[in-house]
Amino acid sequence: RLAPVEPGPLAGRHVLVTSGPTHEPIDPVRYIANRSSGKQGHAIAAAAARAGARVTLVCGPVNLPDPAGVTVRPVETARQMLAAVEAALPADAAIFAAAVADWRAAREAGEKMKKDGGAIPALALTENPDILATIAHDPARRPRLVVGFAAETENVVGYAQAKRARKGCDWIVANDVSPRSGIVGGVMGGDENQVHLITETGVEHWPTASKSDVAERLVARIAAALGPLE
Ligand code: CTP
Ligand code: CA
Repeated sequence: RLAPVEPGPLAGRHVLVTSGPTHEPIDPVRYIANRSSGKQGHAIAAAAARAGARVTLVCGPVNLPDPAGVTVRPVETARQMLAAVEAALPADAAIFAAAVADWRAAREAGEKMKKDGGAIPALALTENPDILATIAHDPARRPRLVVGFAAETENVVGYAQAKRARKGCDWIVANDVSPRSGIVGGVMGGDENQVHLITETGVEHWPTASKSDVAERLVARIAAALGPLE
């Protein structure tokens, strides 16, 4: 006889995760992007699913397989990501791991821009919506636990603490994405991460670990914070 399967610590919960970069079109063949691989966000979605949660992963363009047992909502732009997040709510917890492009082209050219021997085009930018701040500051839609990320290249903990307050999230997972971080191959695109967890009670410095181990540890903390199902 098989032993009964233990329900995971997130059984009965809906967990929303954003992951990857966004691509912001300039014209039909060009876009603004960043170096995010999506590895950390995807690892969090996978770990939450292993812990028994129903997981929705809203992800920008990545070269990763869909994590097992996760509902994936692929998007391209920040505005599409916000719409997909809004459509996926309500959730018990949301982890905003995506590297959302801060700016997009103010006007998207309908046809490929040509050199035409003329002046070099000026690229006018406009700000994208802040998905995390939008959801965290909306009491009607806010998941009980909202976790943001902060990728910094200097003053990592200081900037991340300011970000936690400004964005209205419960926790911030902060990491150093500078080439000086000491992570072999770099954090962005690499398989390891060294993070600082900033909560309402202070800062925890986690050791360098695989993105998968960081995800497991974060998911365990999320399950503990949510507590048992009513
Ligand atoms: N974020 C978001 N929508 C945006 C920008 C950021 O949801 N338009 C989220 C990210 O997913 C992350 C957190 O906000 O969880 C912090 O992102 P970050 O880029 O570090 O913060 P910014 O406020 O954009 O500040 P800056 O890039 O100037 O450091
Ligand atoms: Ca940003």
